Amino acid sequence: MALPRSSPFFHLLLAFFFLWHLPLGFSDQSNCQAWLVQSIPTDMPDLQLVPGVLSTGDVLQWLAGNATKSLDLTVQYWELLAGPNDSNSGDYGYSEAEMKKFGADVGREVYKSLVNAADRNVDIRIIQHSGLYPNYVQEASDLAAGHTNVKNITLLLRNWWGTGIVHSKVWVSDNKDIYIGSANNDWKSLTQVKELGIYLVGCTKIAHSLRHYINNLWMLSTLNSTDYTRTIFDSQWQASRKVPCWSNFIPKDEHCRSPLHPARHVPHVNGYPIIEDPATFDISIETPGMNASTASSDLSYLSFSPPELLFHNFQSDEQGWIETIKSVENGGTVRISTMDWLGQSQFTNSMIFWDSLSAAVSEVVFAKNATVHLLAANWTHSPDNSDKYLKNLLYTNVLCSSSKYNECGGNIEIRYYIIPGYNETGPAIDNGSATGNFYPGYSRVNHGKYAVSDARAHIGTSNLIWDYFYTTAGVSFGTYNPSIVKQLQEVFDADWNSPYAQPVQPLSA
Ligand SMILES: *[C@@H]1O[C@H](CO)[C@@H](O)[C@H](O)[C@H]1NC(C)=O
Ligand SMILES: *[C@@H]1O[C@H](CO)[C@@H](O)[C@H](O)[C@H]1NC(C)=O
Ligand SMILES: *[C@@H]1O[C@H](CO)[C@@H](O)[C@H](O)[C@H]1NC(C)=O
Ligand SMILES: *[C@@H]1O[C@H](CO)[C@@H](O)[C@H](O)[C@H]1NC(C)=O
Ligand SMILES: *[C@@H]1O[C@H](CO)[C@@H](O)[C@H](O)[C@H]1NC(C)=O
Ligand SMILES: *[C@@H]1O[C@H](CO)[C@@H](O)[C@H](O)[C@H]1NC(C)=O
Ligand SMILES: *[C@@H]1O[C@H](CO)[C@@H](O)[C@H](O)[C@H]1NC(C)=O
Ligand SMILES: *[C@@H]1O[C@H](CO)[C@@H](O)[C@H](O)[C@H]1NC(C)=O
Ligand SMILES: *[C@@H]1O[C@H](CO)[C@@H](O)[C@H](O)[C@H]1NC(C)=O
Repeated sequence: MALPRSSPFFHLLLAFFFLWHLPLGFSDQSNCQAWLVQSIPTDMPDLQLVPGVLSTGDVLQWLAGNATKSLDLTVQYWELLAGPNDSNSGDYGYSEAEMKKFGADVGREVYKSLVNAADRNVDIRIIQHSGLYPNYVQEASDLAAGHTNVKNITLLLRNWWGTGIVHSKVWVSDNKDIYIGSANNDWKSLTQVKELGIYLVGCTKIAHSLRHYINNLWMLSTLNSTDYTRTIFDSQWQASRKVPCWSNFIPKDEHCRSPLHPARHVPHVNGYPIIEDPATFDISIETPGMNASTASSDLSYLSFSPPELLFHNFQSDEQGWIETIKSVENGGTVRISTMDWLGQSQFTNSMIFWDSLSAAVSEVVFAKNATVHLLAANWTHSPDNSDKYLKNLLYTNVLCSSSKYNECGGNIEIRYYIIPGYNETGPAIDNGSATGNFYPGYSRVNHGKYAVSDARAHIGTSNLIWDYFYTTAGVSFGTYNPSIVKQLQEVFDADWNSPYAQPVQPLSA
């Protein structure tokens, strides 16, 4: 029986509903605090340090150390424990003294903090990709062995999207303290790779939404992907590909109902266009690591990929990046730092052209006279065609002033971030003979992924390539908080103005 709205019962119910929800609302009045977090590789003496920024190794230990009830981790792979004695490891052959100098101890301390949390009976949930050679998910399995309170699952997104991995790097402790950023659960991510993230403390609303996303990943792992996926022609990207059956890339009448929570009905449009009014957190964030204090409350947000894992009204991760670029003021500056940059897909069967971010950059250069500074990694494992796409983007400058009728006041400048030693990485010993390498494999790279305009900061886990936005799990935190915006600009400028940043040469006009 439907209750008429005029019924006193209805009002009673309504009152009960609100009273019941009040404590939840109030609990978020507990202070939400934020610090930026970096990892800085050893042997970079010419990098200016920005005061007040925390170190990743400390923050991960604190998240585990402070956990009393729960710890949720999304992990690409595990290598917190270095392997100098394992001939299959990129760490092989380095002496104990060298490993100490590289900072391998920090990884061991982080792992120890997880073991301690497991021993304290904290409920630890780990969602991971299948891991990397040679240890794969051994460290997670070791944590789970003998601890009924530790649950580890391997989720293969390629069963759902054809390609793709769990690539988000998120820790949520006791439903309130959070790390989101570029650092992997790898000792090198603490002391040999340049990383950028954010540490949020006491931020229950944000943690609640992150847990929601993590629960949905967990849910995927319990479902039979064969029953829930389709191979379709995606008209937005002009490619045949596998997607979950509730994807908006499937025409409405062929949709299934999403098994994820909440299965909220959204009016169907083909694909995932920009959401006009995305969900935001209107919370005041204290920033003890930054000088400028803000009493005001500023909008913050989370964005997620792939888009089929969105819930409520959160924006897609691609939208989070695009809107950060477009948030620049007239004549202002956008700063973008990334490991990879490609205007296409990297791991799909059919090639996909992807100009979403480069179009946003060119738009603000043209229409807003914006200055764009883009810092991209150049290291042993950069995609071989990255340089071409960067030059293509640089050509925006030529187009902007290509006619005597164009009044172009905007500009894009691109630099390579080159960390000394990047070309001398790998095991110290291979096949019994010395290699002459100076650093372990897969180290000495800028791995941070963030953008900051004059108004808005966006801190992510995704590389700037199509796959990360459409087939791979990624999470970003963004905010209009002026202190965070200012300090993130300072972190970027320290890199940009260092001798480790070298200009990318333009194509000649
Ligand atoms: C705050 O400002 C003081 C004085 O300018 C400076 O010494 C200090 O390093 C700054 N701290 C941070 C966290 O920026
Ligand atoms: C808890 O976190 C705070 C910083 O947020 C840190 O100072 C403290 O050492 C942490 N406690 C433990 C036991 O890790
Ligand atoms: C590697 O082997 C040496 C010599 O046996 C030992 O002292 C050291 O602890 C080992 N290191 C690791 C990380 O297992
Ligand atoms: C989780 O850990 C257990 C215990 O070590 C192990 O047997 C299992 O294979 C792991 N599960 C996954 C999915 O990695
Ligand atoms: C998944 O579903 C397919 C088709 O319904 C079935 O053939 C397969 O055995 C199922 N796999 C598992 C692991 O249950
Ligand atoms: C790295 O930089 C050099 C120029 O310094 C350039 O020739 C090369 O293409 C870059 N490599 C990649 C993979 O971007
Ligand atoms: C952009 O800069 C050009 C050249 O300085 C100027 O003529 C034009 O008015 C500016 N446009 C805007 C929108 O500010
Ligand atoms: C690595 O790069 C540096 C600087 O460009 C150069 O001096 C050095 O010879 C290179 N090392 C190797 C092994 O190519
Ligand atoms: C190591 O030695 C074996 C046998 O001599 C050879 O087949 C292999 O290619 C070598 N590997 C490397 C990386 O040099």
